[in-house]
Amino acid sequence: MELRGLRDDVYRRPLATALDRLGIGPGWTCVDVGAGGGDVSVALAEMVGRDGRIYAVDSDPAARDEVARAAAAHTQVIALTQAGEDLSLPEQVDLAFCRFLLLHVIEPEAVVRMMAAAVRPGGWVVAQEPVTSAGRIAGTALSMPDARHPDVGALLPALLRDAGLEVVDAWAEAPAGVGPGPVARYLESLTGVDPGDDPVVLPPLVTVLGRKP
Ligand SMILES: C[S@@+](CC[C@H](N)C(=O)[O-])C[C@H]1O[C@@H](n2cnc3c(N)ncnc32)[C@H](O)[C@@H]1O
Repeated sequence: MELRGLRDDVYRRPLATALDRLGIGPGWTCVDVGAGGGDVSVALAEMVGRDGRIYAVDSDPAARDEVARAAAAHTQVIALTQAGEDLSLPEQVDLAFCRFLLLHVIEPEAVVRMMAAAVRPGGWVVAQEPVTSAGRIAGTALSMPDARHPDVGALLPALLRDAGLEVVDAWAEAPAGVGPGPVARYLESLTGVDPGDDPVVLPPLVTVLGRKP
């Protein structure tokens, strides 16, 4: 399984926890910012049903084709090529969501502000971002030199609050394991290093649920 599919597999639980906590259901309109291959967009589409709508937004034009492939069975998914900093949708949505996005952008504050502007009053902004250095291989801290903000998850509650959102809930979850399995395979595809029999804690994902007043 490639990195994308593995990521979706090992971080499935934090996504499910967040969507369950939100009570998302049929007819919701959502934007998935930094949608990548569209795994989150498809999960959202399954929850909102045919009457809902999911805008899958990514700055990389190649993502549009990937989302189109992943969401072929879901006509309610609309893939758009846009930077999160320039987010502009044809309607205000019930939910603006991002996962593993803010660690890569130049100015996370600007993207969170645009997400807050994209939702209707009473709507939700939900972000799931890692604290990379809190991950461990055999007790040693992980690093991610290529990411602009590898520990942005640690700042996430404040980022949403400073965008004018009410922080309704916030927590962290980390997949962990030892020996062969999806956790070891994900780590290897991310770093090129097979952890062998060393215990692994993947970077915790901080989830913040923010509500627009
Ligand atoms: C690590 S992937 C995460 C994909 C998906 N959210 C997930 O959790 O599986 C990050 C994605 O963010 C996109 N991205 C990076 N900077 C962006 C920006 N400023 N605006 C929108 N998308 C961006 C990248 O093209 C990439 O597809």
